[in-house]
Amino acid sequence: MNRFHVGLGVSGGIAAYKAVEVMRLLQKAGCEVSVAMTRHATEFVQPLTFRALTGGHVIVDDYDPANPDPIAHINFSQGIDLLLIVPATANIIGKFANGIADDFLSSTYLACTAPVMIAPAMNTTMWEQPATQRNIERLRADGVHFVEPVAGELACKTVGTGKLEDVENIVSQALGLLTAEAQRRGEERGTGAFPEKGVSIESNDPRRLGVSAVNDDLRDERILITVGGTREAIDPVRFISNHSSGKMGFALAEAARDRGAEVTVVAGVTTAEPPEGVRVLRGVSAEEMHTAVKGELERATVFVGAAAVADYAPVNAADAKIKKEGKEQLTLELKKTPDILAEVARNRTNGLLVVGFAAETNDVVGYARSKMEKKGLDMVVANDITREGAGFNSDTNIATILTRGGEAIDLPKMPKRELADRILDEIVKLR
Ligand SMILES: Cc1cc2nc3c(=O)[nH]c(=O)nc-3n(C[C@H](O)[C@H](O)[C@H](O)COP(=O)(O)O)c2cc1C
Repeated sequence: MNRFHVGLGVSGGIAAYKAVEVMRLLQKAGCEVSVAMTRHATEFVQPLTFRALTGGHVIVDDYDPANPDPIAHINFSQGIDLLLIVPATANIIGKFANGIADDFLSSTYLACTAPVMIAPAMNTTMWEQPATQRNIERLRADGVHFVEPVAGELACKTVGTGKLEDVENIVSQALGLLTAEAQRRGEERGTGAFPEKGVSIESNDPRRLGVSAVNDDLRDERILITVGGTREAIDPVRFISNHSSGKMGFALAEAARDRGAEVTVVAGVTTAEPPEGVRVLRGVSAEEMHTAVKGELERATVFVGAAAVADYAPVNAADAKIKKEGKEQLTLELKKTPDILAEVARNRTNGLLVVGFAAETNDVVGYARSKMEKKGLDMVVANDITREGAGFNSDTNIATILTRGGEAIDLPKMPKRELADRILDEIVKLR
């Protein structure tokens, strides 16, 4: 028996060919995949490619007499566990948001009771268009999940946000959602096959890993953790970043997973590997991390800002590599990036606990306490990164935990994994 049945909707963008890889990865993960394409999508990839690989009819036009199912939009949409759109054009997003059902894929969306996940891909101007953003906000409010596009060089040879997220990450997020939904419904759907080694989704399926919590005091928590450093583009080649390895954030993710929490990590640039059994989303720049956090926050009960997010980013990343010829000096104009932690704390609802980190070089506890008060946090983990055995890239840390209304807890040097458990102990006490 297949683990999940995914309806893969392909719309007419240049990234349509990547839907083939998404389909293959889903199949390797043990999913059954049925494919629906828009008419424009067939200009980019032949339905035959999907038909050959799935062994099933690929529906483009439900009016086509060759279509074996006379009420396909209902039957297709009712038989799937997830409707995943890769890539999603600005057009299909607009149609979904406005209830337009003038082809098979848009009719299927309207008839669908399964969760829907959309991975948009388009030119940056199309992506940033207020109409597109309005449609996305509307769909988010309707409960649709998004795999945000990333920044990079686009087919139109411009650099900006709009590139389809890596196929592995799309599949990882789709499996994470399917798993979470199945857990929510308390279902067991059989074991099926699992992805090959090296496919990152493998590490993100808690059920496959048989992860069981010994002390499950966090079983009712959904913990969202930002991890690693961010990377702010100067031009297509250069960027501003920092030394964060992601070790502390991943240690927290691992410890929280072991204590029964459902863990989602939004990772920037990391040199450490994410632990198995947690859902990993990527948000490489401060802006992308911000967007990813906003998309996930609604479900979270605890937010831990462990990422070293750049405070400033270039005002405008150059479209082409900046040349050094004729320039003895170069001035970069920087703008403040969004303060993710402060914004999460400011807009919190439903008892969300908000935890921050303060990596300082002097008056560590003083700065950390003022950060906690200014940003309205419940807890700050402060560390002096100049001390040996503390800070970036080290496997150990030396921290002081400050909690709202509580005494400062000075901890000795210990492995980051152990510190993670001490932090989680304090989170449990705050509950
Ligand atoms: C070569 C080419 C590439 C395109 N790439 C994209 C794209 O990446 N994203 C997008 O939203 N639209 C893209 N379009 C425009 C869509 O194909 C167009 O809006 C179409 O109506 C989408 O139809 P559909 O949503 O029904 O598939 C592209 C068009 C062409 C001709």
